[in-house]
Amino acid sequence: MSRTVLVLNGPNLNLLGTREPATYGRETLADVSALCSRSAAQLGLEVDFRQTNHEGELLDWIHQARGRYAAIVINPAAWTHTSVAIRDALVAVELPVIEVHISNVHARESFRHHSYVSSIALAVLCGFGINGYRLALEHLAQWLSTQEQSA
Ligand code: DQA
Repeated sequence: MSRTVLVLNGPNLNLLGTREPATYGRETLADVSALCSRSAAQLGLEVDFRQTNHEGELLDWIHQARGRYAAIVINPAAWTHTSVAIRDALVAVELPVIEVHISNVHARESFRHHSYVSSIALAVLCGFGINGYRLALEHLAQWLSTQEQSA
């Protein structure tokens, strides 16, 4: 069974560090990637960490994940609130999905309160800052071990 987790990031997350730091913090996307790699190593996982500003590219990456990865951790960013296509792709590949948001979307504008992904996700983390990515990997490590034991 694969122990590699695909960590996907949607639009504008390449601007982390300079983009609305009061909301998203000062850490860059490279810092998030390093945090994921470090956490994965401690948890006996591997990560493939990616970001795109192009929805079709994200869809292609999700399609290619089927059978190759143990799970998907995704921060769909603005597409969370708009994209049925991303939700459908995540359902189609039949992998466990954890949705992560750096900010607490429920404490922000009402258009951020609805997510097309949450109802098909194993778990949702928001408001933990970039630590949410580490928490997602921790949960997956445990969840995957339980799955392996019962297989
Ligand atoms: C975000 C929250 C979204 O509403 C927003 O569009 C983002 C980032 C977050 O990580 O807090 O781009 O997903």
